[in-house]
Amino acid sequence: MHANMEWTRKDLLGIEDLAKEEIDGILDTAEGFREVSARSVKKVPALRGKVIVNLFFEASTRTRISFELAGTRLSADVINFAGATSSASKGETLSDTARNIEAMGVDILVLRHPCSGAAYQLSKAVTASVVNAGDGTHEHPTQGLLDIYTIRRALGRIEGLKVAIVGDVSHSRVARSNIWGLQKLGAEVYAVGPPTLVPRGLAKMGVKVSHHLDEILPEIDVFNMLRIQAERQDQGLFPTIREYSRLFGLNRQRMKRVKPTALVLHPGPINRGVEITPDVADGPQSLILNQVTNGLAIRMAVLYLVGTRATNPGAREGGVA
Ligand code: CP
Repeated sequence: MHANMEWTRKDLLGIEDLAKEEIDGILDTAEGFREVSARSVKKVPALRGKVIVNLFFEASTRTRISFELAGTRLSADVINFAGATSSASKGETLSDTARNIEAMGVDILVLRHPCSGAAYQLSKAVTASVVNAGDGTHEHPTQGLLDIYTIRRALGRIEGLKVAIVGDVSHSRVARSNIWGLQKLGAEVYAVGPPTLVPRGLAKMGVKVSHHLDEILPEIDVFNMLRIQAERQDQGLFPTIREYSRLFGLNRQRMKRVKPTALVLHPGPINRGVEITPDVADGPQSLILNQVTNGLAIRMAVLYLVGTRATNPGAREGGVA
């Protein structure tokens, strides 16, 4: 763990709340856990005896499997809960559902929910730790952390880098978590997209706003391409998917104009041929699958830190063994 950081938080609700030292501390802790996944026995006893419940009220592939594997590799007992088949479908509130689950002796609740603020609300209702796995359009902190960790591993630093977040920034919890985290670590953040998909207030936060991807291509170190949410197309936020792709898609022609060292990220799921072409997504500058690998280490670090917080700080020394 980072030498200057002692983790005391019960929950991880967003990156907005975190100090630079806490972000560095999570990334450094992840570095220790990354090596565990390369072992033949991919398990450490760090959370043995703890119980984690993954509460997912929205579809997920990467985040749900990643949290499940992370808990398992830390030797916790992990239960997966799908909102659609639970008593929530009979009208039970989120807080009541969570309190009932907590009454069975749960230590950590991992929540994905369509409502912004759901993780915060839950954290007030339970004494168990709450980890936000994506709440509405608010934050997706472990995705932001894994994106930043992936950049740091590839380029050795965050400070001074120019990172462009391209696409539907307005509706993206991934964008919000990235902006908070990257700025706290000293990156210069660009939000790029059509005016209907980039919030006006971002410039006041120090984010550089551009509506012309072609103008900034040569100066950017990292492109984080957001999923274009086709389900929003009928809201008239951009003319057609084809038009969007022509103006904001990362393709072979555009890659000829970027720095040779520029990197490409995407949180997934990808719309191939819309925000990114297959040759770029699978090309040498893409770190998309590295993000998924690094996400496991980040989630192990987050579960470990909240699961062993201040109540037993000394236990952390045996975390990666
Ligand atoms: N990036 C991300 O959150 O993917 P999932 O929706 O598959 O979890």
